[in-house]
Amino acid sequence: MRLNPRLAALPIYPTVVLDRKRDALLAAGKPVYDFGTGDPTEPTPAFIRAKVEPAIPENCRYPTVLGGADVRRAFAGWAERRFGVALDPATQVLPSSGSKEAVFHLPLLVIDPEAADRAVVFPDPGYSVYYRGTVLAGGEPVPQRLSGDFKQRVWELPPELLRRTRMIWINSPHNPTGAVLSREDLRRTWEVCREYDILLASDECYADTWFSEPPPSILEVAQEGVIAIFSLSKRSGMTGYRTGMIAGDRAWMQKLRELRTNPGLAPQDFVNAAAAAAWGDDAHADERRHIFAAKREVLRAFLAEAGLEVVASEASFYLWVRAPKGHTGQSYAEKLLDIGIVTNPGSAFAVTSSGDDYVRLALVPDVPTCRAACEVWRSIL
Ligand SMILES: Cc1ncc(COP(=O)(O)O)c(C=O)c1O
Repeated sequence: MRLNPRLAALPIYPTVVLDRKRDALLAAGKPVYDFGTGDPTEPTPAFIRAKVEPAIPENCRYPTVLGGADVRRAFAGWAERRFGVALDPATQVLPSSGSKEAVFHLPLLVIDPEAADRAVVFPDPGYSVYYRGTVLAGGEPVPQRLSGDFKQRVWELPPELLRRTRMIWINSPHNPTGAVLSREDLRRTWEVCREYDILLASDECYADTWFSEPPPSILEVAQEGVIAIFSLSKRSGMTGYRTGMIAGDRAWMQKLRELRTNPGLAPQDFVNAAAAAAWGDDAHADERRHIFAAKREVLRAFLAEAGLEVVASEASFYLWVRAPKGHTGQSYAEKLLDIGIVTNPGSAFAVTSSGDDYVRLALVPDVPTCRAACEVWRSIL
């Protein structure tokens, strides 16, 4: 078998490893408290589900990359309510089949694998698809190592690197740490990208998953040279639908639309119908936020009592916890797994050693299960 060497060089996808371990525990009949993969268990609201079947015509024909106007208008309406920004649904918005594929494909827009200037900078630790998409597009992956408060400070990157960079990923609220960039941070980031003519790609799939203050969007700061990516996965409990949105600079969005016709990246119209209903409603997102907040409070209270430090974790769907003395994130995650508590070692999100001392908890189990997990966890303190 002669495999694409870029593919062969990629480490196995982190959730695959985790799922295998969890499945082994389940097969052994052990209780499992699954804080691993960030896949919410709360039902998709009924009014969203109800949109799907009526939108399936007798002859379900090819969808288009642009998608219908309804979903783009509904998304633009949400962006206006949420951020106070005006987006033209006709030219600045495209639907995606979940934000993951949008993240994965975006480097294809700017990367020339033959060129010397083909660097893509991304936060590390971070969502592993920034790295994977860059490598498979033939770009030069450049992790920007985060530590301390885990905020990405693009303005601290060396000019020599910025000169050969085509694209910078930012992710606020951030997976896996829950760190949030302020409006001022976003403005400084955008200024750097304009100065060096770098496409600024802003992954905002957790824009509506926050606890105290709604985090700002890059689109509030500027749209020129910006592409931002959004998702209904956590906001509306729609991971299985695969539905996200891409929005930003009109000229870049036109080119992206052309690019996306090549593989035919076009969400199904019946999924777009459900997505339009979801973007059009804020009450369910608010309700889900309260549910996530309740789980977070249970876990934070326990972790504080246990003397385990929660770092960053201002927003998003995660808690970023420092492993106790004598442990790495990996060894602590293994110890927790022995008692049925599934977490992710921070190293699973990092190319460098930036995540080594941490574990990530996704706010997945319901409140009673979070309480039960804390009791089990207490037994190994
Ligand atoms: C930072 C980040 N971006 C993108 C995604 C992809 O989300 P989806 O494809 O479900 O929209 C995830 C999923 O966990 C994520 O954490």
